[in-house]
Order: sequence, then C-alpha cells, then structure tokens
Amino acid sequence: MESIFERQMRQSYSKGSTIAVGCNQWGDTGKGAIVDRFMHIADICVRSMGADNCGHTMHVNGMKYVSHMIPSGILFDSKGIVSVIARDVALNPLTARLELAEFTKAGITCNNLKISFRAKLILPYHILFDMLSESKSGKAKKIGTTGRGVGPVFQDYIARVGLTVGDMLDEGVMYQKLYHVLRDRIAFLKTLDIGMVREVMQHERLENGLFFHSKHILDIDAIVERYREHGEFFRDMICDTEAYLKSQLGTATIVFEGAQGLLLDINQGSYPFVTSSRCSVAGIANGAGLREKNITDPLGVVKAYVTRVGEGAFPTEIGGYDAVSTYKTQWHDKLVDVPLVEQINDSNEVIQGGAIGMIGGEVGATTGRSRRVGWLDLVALRHAIGINGSQIVITKLDVLTGIKKIPVCTEYCYEGKDNPAIPLHTGQFLDEMIPENEILKHCRPIYTYLDGWDEDISNVRSWTDLPENAQKYLSLIEELSGAKIVMIGVGPEREQVFFT
Ligand code: IMP
Repeated sequence: MESIFERQMRQSYSKGSTIAVGCNQWGDTGKGAIVDRFMHIADICVRSMGADNCGHTMHVNGMKYVSHMIPSGILFDSKGIVSVIARDVALNPLTARLELAEFTKAGITCNNLKISFRAKLILPYHILFDMLSESKSGKAKKIGTTGRGVGPVFQDYIARVGLTVGDMLDEGVMYQKLYHVLRDRIAFLKTLDIGMVREVMQHERLENGLFFHSKHILDIDAIVERYREHGEFFRDMICDTEAYLKSQLGTATIVFEGAQGLLLDINQGSYPFVTSSRCSVAGIANGAGLREKNITDPLGVVKAYVTRVGEGAFPTEIGGYDAVSTYKTQWHDKLVDVPLVEQINDSNEVIQGGAIGMIGGEVGATTGRSRRVGWLDLVALRHAIGINGSQIVITKLDVLTGIKKIPVCTEYCYEGKDNPAIPLHTGQFLDEMIPENEILKHCRPIYTYLDGWDEDISNVRSWTDLPENAQKYLSLIEELSGAKIVMIGVGPEREQVFFT
C-alpha cells in the first residue's frame, strides 16, 4: 500500500518529470536514500557522471546495500525500472560485475540495465597511475583520491586518447588504442622502481598482479583479454543511452542519481581538491546527453552539517585539520564510557567533531576513510544553490540532536594576502564561497549560534512535529541562503524522510 509520503511524492512530481538528485556539499550527503525514495515513481534511474569513487548506501527492509557503479534503481529492477549508466560515467567493469553478482546473490533481478557505449572505460593503468601519483605526492600535493583511477581516465578522455565501453566489443580496436596510449606510459613506468610498481599492481583492484608483465610492466595482451571478456558479459546491456533517454523525455519519469557533490565539481568545486567530473545538475544532465533545461526538478541534497573526505580546505571543520582522525587515534578509546551525547558538547572540538562523526556514521562507503566533520556552511551553500538551484533536501538532521549550541557559518572572513586581481583584501567578509583552495584555506568562518534540541526526532514525519529549535535551524538555512527545503531526512531508514 502507498504510504502518505509516497502519495505526496506522486502528487508533487507528475508523470514525465525529470528529477536530478545532486549534492550541494562535498558528497556523502545521503543522496542514495533520497534516490531510493524516488524509485516509487520512477520509470528510469540514471547515473550520468562519476565512477566507482562514490558509494551510495541504501537501507531497504533492514538490509544495507552499497552501490558504487550500478544505479540504485537496480533494487527495483523486478518492478521494471530501467537503470542507465550514461555517457559521462567512467565505468569500472570489474566493480560493476562484482556488484551485479552481489545483487543477484541477494535475490535482486538485474534485467534492465543499460550502459552507454560512449561511457568512459577505466583500465588497470588508470588505477595504477592514480595509486602511484597519490603515493608519490607529499601531503601538500596529495588530493586524497579514492584510488579508483578517476583522474587518469578523464585525463585520457580530455587528451582524446581514452577508450570507451563500446571498445570492449572489438578486440582489434581495443588493442590498437591501448598500444597507442600505453607506449609513453610504459616508458615512464620503466623509469620507476619496478619492484614498487609490481607491488602496487598486486592490489586487488588490479586483480592481484594479473596485468603485470616482467618486461613491459603492463601486459597489454592480458588487459585486452580481460576486457574482451568484460565486453562479452556486458554485450546485451551496451547501447546508445542518449538516444534512449531522449526518446523517453516527457513520458517516462526519470530520476538522475548524482555522485559526489557540487563542491567537488571539476569546474565549480574547491579546485584542485576536486574530482575530475562535473557534479552539478547541469553536469548530470549533460552527462546523460541532455540539456539542463530537460531537468524539471533539480534537487541539491544538503546534510545538516558538513563532511569532507580527502584533502583540501574546509573552513568549518570542527577542531581543525583532520580532527576526526585525531579523535579516533587519541580519544576514542579513552572515552568509551562517556556517552556520545555528552561528547558532542565537549569544549574540546576534536572530541566534539569526532563524536558527531561517530553518531553520523561518517566513514567513507568507498574507501573506509573517516570523513572530516564540520558545521553547516551557508557561504558554501549559497555558492552551490547559485548553480544547482534553490530546491534542497536536508538529511541527517537527527545527528545534531543533543547539541546545546549549534554553530552555523553565515560568512567568511578572508585572512590571506591581498589579491588585487579578484579583488580581495585581508579582513574582507565573503558571503559566497570562492571555490579556490588557495583562497578557501585563508577563510575563517563567522558563526551564528543557535539553541539546539534534545527531543528524539527520528520518528518525526512532519514539519510541525519538529521541535521548535529544529524548525528555527531549518528556517535560518532558508532565510540566509535563499534555499527552499522540500524534504527532510531524520535517519537512515527509507521511512525516515518527509516532505515539508
Ligand atoms: P577521486 O574522485 O577519486 O579522484 O578523488 C578526488 C577527491 O574527491 C578526493 O578528495 C575524494 O575523497 C573525493 N571524492 C571522490 N568521490 C567522492 C564521494 O563519492 N564522496 C566524497 N568524496 C569523494
């Protein structure tokens, strides 16, 4: 039977809507759970950017599913929802196959998956170069990537030497393209310590040394053979998804599942500590071969606080750089007997931030790394909604329950050197983020402090049932950012989200 939420959803989004679920922060805002709810009305679920660097977590009937490559729509495959991996996704065929195998084992049918023949193809050397460049870079240069080969695969694409998913269907083409692209790479690899390269290639993501060649380092024949086999596996799913999606516009309800977040977007994010794809709503549309105007309902998911994985400036980080890791190594064990609800009010911000991360389960679904935790940043949000539009979904509001005073960043004070080009001077206040790391790292957050709430809100299903102080928190977000909150999430289960 249709729940109240599901009925409201059906009434709010008419048949033929195109809903893009993006993220207005640094990813990990709970898009997966929101996309999952939209499956109630969806005919098609599309992933159109990113790669297996993201991890979408869904909780269904007490089971937890994490998908990195396959659109969340797959969980509803038996209901006829078509899942699409579109053109601007970089496909890791191994990850996709492993995920499909796991879904199948869990009894989920996977009959309606379509993959663009133009999607970019992640090859073993992309992963190798990503891992090597991260391990060679000093802390200052490191991006803190997920090690999935994302930067290198998009580099190849921009350099116009990349392989696409369709190439897997033609061994000859694959060999020719690989031979061309790998000549220089192999010459470069030969300048490195071969023992070290060999060791990196033992990684399970590189199939435990399957592609290592003692003379040429990269074994082209082994790569071609493995990818030919992947091609066979995916043969019936590979098609022209752009043509398919265009043909469905206006009649089918299409839900686009964004990956990462606007602040990680290659153009709009905190460069250079970003990912290599376009994470904006426009990027989501274009990545599927559509226009931004084809999206009837652009949504930006916003967590009630902020997290970031990897390196890069993070003005509202609680307790300073990488405090959550410090908490884990220095405080966690000592504080096992102190309830988290006390820790989140600790005057030591390392403890406070670490405890919020614990309550929020802030561990990367892809990398297992602890996420850095910060207060809500309206300066960043203004920047994001300026690009993604004003409709937002607030998630994980419940995590803030129990915090006595909740800081909200309303402005930055720039404390770097004067920069006449922008222009920008020391002491200047900024109400919108300039997404350049060199600037961002000199921005001090200015906070407004709001009274928190103690009531358990995990069972709340309407705005009016929220504690007054939670309403004030949300109203302040709308008032100071220009956003319109359309949905609120108060827990990880699919029932724990409601319309405002
Ligand atoms: P890459 O996408 O693996 O190249 O990583 C570039 C940056 O984006 C790193 O800081 C990653 O931690 C971050 N990143 C990539 N994917 C995600 C994601 O799904 N959630 C959060 N951060 C991500």
